[in-house]
Amino acid sequence: MGAVVAVAVVIGVACGPGEATAPELRAGREVYGDVCSTCHGNRGQGGVGPSLESVIDTWPSCLDQQRWISLGSEGWKAEVGPTYGAGQAEITKVMPGQAASLTELQIAQVAAFERVEYGGGDVDVVLADCGIADP
Ligand code: HEC
Repeated sequence: MGAVVAVAVVIGVACGPGEATAPELRAGREVYGDVCSTCHGNRGQGGVGPSLESVIDTWPSCLDQQRWISLGSEGWKAEVGPTYGAGQAEITKVMPGQAASLTELQIAQVAAFERVEYGGGDVDVVLADCGIADP
């Protein structure tokens, strides 16, 4: 475990303007740690909520992922239906919606963070998909 952390740190430093230093992803990491990690795990490994390693498969569209985060499970059921994501997973648990507590930008940032950090997505592709690429 210690070795894994050390390697991650070294890669992060060596990446320059890549994933670890993109300001959008750093902001997303903060939101994740404050709001999401209690249920999804401090490394996205899951807990009360599912692991986030398949997050890109579940949400081919980052905008849909943002909508899920914004609405939460109950809002999603009311507005969209009883299943979520590309695999049509049935909603059986509760995830709180974040529309009232996070800005739209923060929701986009945390979605991008999850896709890069836990989903293994390419930084530039993810930022564009999530609508927060630098101009
Ligand atoms: C109180 C616990 C809780 C918190 C806090 C929480 N979630 Fe969730 N989340 C869940 C649960 C439970 C599910 C799955 C719902 C189900 O299966 O019925 C879920 C599902 C998800 C999914 C879809 C999972 C997948 O398979 O890809 C994403 C993405 C997600 N959450 C993101 C977030 C983000 C981002 C935050 C922080 C802003 C967050 N969640 C905060 C409990 C939580």
